[in-house]
This record gives sequence, structure tokens and C-alpha cells, in this order.
Amino acid sequence: MSTAAGVDRSTLIGKDYIETLDWTVDELDEVLAVAGELKEARRRGEPHRLLADKTLYMLFLDKSTRTRNAFETGMTQLGGHAIFLDADKTQVSHGETPGDTARTLSRYGEGIAIRHDLAPYEGNAWMREIAKFADIPLINLQCDVDHPTQTIADLMTLREYRGENLRGLKVAMTWAYAPSYARPLSVPQGVATLFPRFGMDVVLAHPPGFDLMPEVLEKAQAAAKEAGATITFADSMEEAFEGADVVYPKSWGRLDAFTDESKALAESGAYANWICDEEKLALASPDVLYLHCLPADRGREVTDAVMDGPHSVIWDEAENRMHTGKALMALTMGGYAK
Ligand code: CP
Repeated sequence: MSTAAGVDRSTLIGKDYIETLDWTVDELDEVLAVAGELKEARRRGEPHRLLADKTLYMLFLDKSTRTRNAFETGMTQLGGHAIFLDADKTQVSHGETPGDTARTLSRYGEGIAIRHDLAPYEGNAWMREIAKFADIPLINLQCDVDHPTQTIADLMTLREYRGENLRGLKVAMTWAYAPSYARPLSVPQGVATLFPRFGMDVVLAHPPGFDLMPEVLEKAQAAAKEAGATITFADSMEEAFEGADVVYPKSWGRLDAFTDESKALAESGAYANWICDEEKLALASPDVLYLHCLPADRGREVTDAVMDGPHSVIWDEAENRMHTGKALMALTMGGYAK
């Protein structure tokens, strides 16, 4: 099936989805088109068993609420089966190589999905090694570099609220204080590498030491330039929020301190004033949208008043994880074969 963007859906069969930068804007548009169709089909109660009898292996090397359940439930709705795996329950923990794991799973099912996000400079490389040996597509459920199934859902949510054309929207992607655990850098990096390709101008802000991976930022800057959009920097949440159309304040860890999480979290306490509250939100556009990928540290990262307030679209954002996840599975795993 083709669309106005000119992407033949069958050409996406077998394509890995590891970083959004691996897909063209037209291909990502197609994902969003399919997600919209599947969301509507679900709303109408129409069956859409595009992946009947197909199996997805989901290998999680970190915890998850939204991602696991969005993909597992989504696969059920598509008529297939998703199997949850973790390192401890597989031979991965005994050191079986990525190549041998990939070749084995390729003999059984139609897709592999992986979360490996806690160790900087490991997850993305490990996934790409699996993908090199797999005969079936690989979907990145979050790595050290990108969280592409999150940011595509964010994009869907923004389009639902602001229309197809997002060009010129100012997005404040800022760090926020969260003492519960050190989050990967993949969401801010994913936003920086994706949103400007759809015309949005991203302002990044974080305390000293919380820089994004320099090589990812470099790729994001190049993609933004090509798309005629910008990535700029601010020194505080307040400065970034000034006139913003979208705010996305969330915590992430220090690149140089993932091996000593408790020390890093203690040090981040110096920036406990980086909380998204109503006072800061008032600096943004009057109809600003508040995004958060979740989980959030309520009362530390963001106040309840903001999270549960009129600008928050976080539950639509969480729901859209499932619709976009279904679209990615359906497209890459053969749901639109000719
Ligand atoms: N946003 C997100 O990835 O949530 P989980 O960690 O719960 O999957």
C-alpha cells in the first residue's frame, strides 16, 4: 500500500529501527500514518490482525512499564505473540554471543526487540551486532543513544494536538532533578535527533556536567541544519522555557558517572531547583504542551499540578507508545506484504 508520501509499505519489511536517523522523514511519516490508522481501528473495535501467527522476541536488559506493555499488548492486538525475555533467563547472561543469539531467534520468529540502555557506549553497539547477524528486523526499545519508539510516539502526540505541520514550534528539552535512579541520555538525544527533522526548533538546557554524547549531538546538529531547523542551548530551565510551545523537562544521568550511580545522584542534588512547576511553566507559551516519557519523580522532577494540569498530554503520549509500536511491528514484520 502506498501513500501520498510515496513510501511503499512493503519496502519497510525487514528494516531495522535502531535510531530514527536510520529512517527517512517519509518513512517516519508512514509509521505515523499507520499508527493513526491502527489507533482508529482499535477505537472502532475493528480487528486488525496484521501479524497473525508471528512472534516478536523482546529482550529487556532494564526495567520497563510502558515499553514492554505497549509492545506486548500491541502484538496481541495484531494477532501475534510477543515473548518477554531478560538477560538472566537467557544464555545472554552466560555470555552467548550476539551473533549466536541473533541467528537462533531468526530461525523461530519474525522480529527482535531489545532494551539495553544503562551502560553508555554499549547498548547501541550490542544491538547493531545482533542486527548484523539476524535475518529478521530489530526494533530498539531504548539504548544508550536513542529511544526511537518513545520519540515517534511523542511526535504522534504533538501532531494530534498541533496538526501535521510542526515547523517553527519551539521545544524546550531540559534536564530535571530526579533522585530515584540515573536515567539514560537516550530521550533528550532522541528528541534532538528527531524533532528538528520535522521542522521544530529545540532548545537544550542542563546543569554543568550533564552534557549529551558529543557525537550524537553532532549528528543531531547536522540533521537539524539539513531540515532548516535549529538546536540551541540555554543555561537554565527558565531560560529554555521562555516562549516555548512544548516543554519536555526530564532527568538524565551524567555520562561520566553511570558506574557510580549513588555518587552521581547525590551530586545531582545540587540542582534540585531544576523542577518543572507552574511558575516556570508560566514562562512558556500560554497553550504550551507538557511532555514526559515517564516514569517521573513526582514532586522532584515535576509538581503534581503540572503533571496533572491542563497543559499535560502525558497519558496520550503513553497511549501512543502502543499505536506507534504496533505500526513499527506491522511495517517491519510483514503486516503490509504485497
Ligand atoms: N518511557 C518509557 O520507556 O517507559 P518504560 O521505561 O516504563 O518502558
